[in-house]
Amino acid sequence: MARILITSALPYINGIKHLGNLAGSMLPADVYARFKRAQGDEVLYICATDEHGTPAELAAAAAGQDVSTYCAEQHTLQHDIGRAYGLSWDWFGRSSSPQNHRLTQHFANVLEDQGLIEERVDQMVYSVDDRRFLPDRYVEGTCPHCAYTPARGDQCDNCGRLLDPTDLKDPYSAISGSRNIEVRDTRHLYLLQTKMEPQLRDWLATKDDWPTLPKSIAYKHLDEGLIDRGITRDLAWGVPVTRNGMPRPGFEDKVFYVWFDAPIEYIAATQEWADNAEDGKARDWRRWWRTDGGADDVRYLEFMGKDNVAFHTVSFPATILGSKEPWKLVDTLKAFNWLNWYGGKFSTSQNRGVFMDQALELLPPDYWRWYLTANTPESSDTAFTWEQFQSAINRDLNDVLGNFVNRILKFNETRFEGLVPDGGEPGELEQKLYADVSAKLADLTEQMETIEIRKSAQALRDLWVLGNQYLQEAAPWTAIKTDPARAAVIVRTGLNLVALFARIAAPVLPFTAEKIAEAMGEPYPHSWPSTDAELELNRLPPGRPVRAPDVLFRKVEDAQVAEWAERFGGAEA
Ligand code: 2FM
Ligand code: ZN
Repeated sequence: MARILITSALPYINGIKHLGNLAGSMLPADVYARFKRAQGDEVLYICATDEHGTPAELAAAAAGQDVSTYCAEQHTLQHDIGRAYGLSWDWFGRSSSPQNHRLTQHFANVLEDQGLIEERVDQMVYSVDDRRFLPDRYVEGTCPHCAYTPARGDQCDNCGRLLDPTDLKDPYSAISGSRNIEVRDTRHLYLLQTKMEPQLRDWLATKDDWPTLPKSIAYKHLDEGLIDRGITRDLAWGVPVTRNGMPRPGFEDKVFYVWFDAPIEYIAATQEWADNAEDGKARDWRRWWRTDGGADDVRYLEFMGKDNVAFHTVSFPATILGSKEPWKLVDTLKAFNWLNWYGGKFSTSQNRGVFMDQALELLPPDYWRWYLTANTPESSDTAFTWEQFQSAINRDLNDVLGNFVNRILKFNETRFEGLVPDGGEPGELEQKLYADVSAKLADLTEQMETIEIRKSAQALRDLWVLGNQYLQEAAPWTAIKTDPARAAVIVRTGLNLVALFARIAAPVLPFTAEKIAEAMGEPYPHSWPSTDAELELNRLPPGRPVRAPDVLFRKVEDAQVAEWAERFGGAEA
């Protein structure tokens, strides 16, 4: 049994996320976690809300709430909505937790002990009218690289480059819009990443098996030349800056930068998980994160959008490696492109795109899980369109999977009293089916193993199609008239296919898989099947009562597509 640690990028606290966020980190991480658990591995899937920094402060101000109340409410909302989608986090933490405060301060302390942190007086953007410094997203303006407006003080959304607020051309305050901007001196802590470049390169060189996307982003940053990064900000909300456990003189009104403490929360959230053990079992976070605590044989996978890659391949590893402490580093990094909305960006203000809570008002979670998995923005950006969504639901879920399950179970109810039929010997058609299904099961397992999300969905659909083809060819409705023993073999095989389909669909369609399992008298959660189809298609004991589940899927009608396109924006938007 392997031990697999999975994290998905921590969603910002500033409101419920849209479907693109779900598709590009949390959902694929969940699919993989469920697959690995089904294979019998020990899995720990950790996520949390990213609660510090300017996104939190700006959103709380817009909501008219103090930041702490705002974050507590939004955390509960994001937690509940994630659960409603079946996201099987072992823990969904908060980067504002006491555990993360302690651990962030610990890392800063040891990095300073290692000579990797320095105080510098720096020039920062100051808003005279707001009477405050404007870190990161508090300042907007024109990107010096691509001329995009509004680029944010920390990053340009258009060209993806990391920015410093003083880089922006024509800056203005995101709080008041004021252009009465000065550059003033302020004291900050810097992480000396320049000193760490050789170490980071050596570490990256061991990652031969990483996909191109994260590797190319990481090397782009190294090749452009690392810079020492400011890891504190002039903000009130965040992790206070300390030295050796005491407030750091001159830093009383400052906190650590959100991108310094957020990845540390992966570890701190695991501490939260351990501290909140309720089942009487001791939980040891060190087994997952400390190589001197048993984490040596853990495989650690990170899931994220492409804009997060630099932070996970350079900044966070710099924190870990620089500490010289035996922390676990990422083994596999899976990065995703963007899910766009008809080729443009999702936008709350312009009413474009569906957010996670709204989507569930329209249809159950498995509909979204299927579409987003089958259309994961893996090798390039992908556009959500209602037309594609309708076709994926109607064709794949209704016509292929739902129809197969319903047809064979209904036939079994009328012809075999709803019991798994006994008797008869598998013939040529079944032998061919065993060969085809075995090959596809091997393909599916391989795609899941290598986290090829789209190809996994394709292999899953191919297996459902094989079942339909078999049933069409074997035609039990004809056989029953002349050869009841032959019909018994076909129906028994068909029922076994249903049970198998539920097992292999479970990582992607957990709610549907559970419904089918219950109707088939099968245990849930399932184990992952072997690639021996002959074995897997002869598992159901003859005589077991099985029944057709309640309607698995409903078709998406043209009228619904028209209504939703109007409500959420569509092709014309
Ligand atoms: O881009 C984002 O949404 C960030 N909140 C991701 C943080 S991931 C991690 F490092 F915490
Ligand atoms: Zn730019």
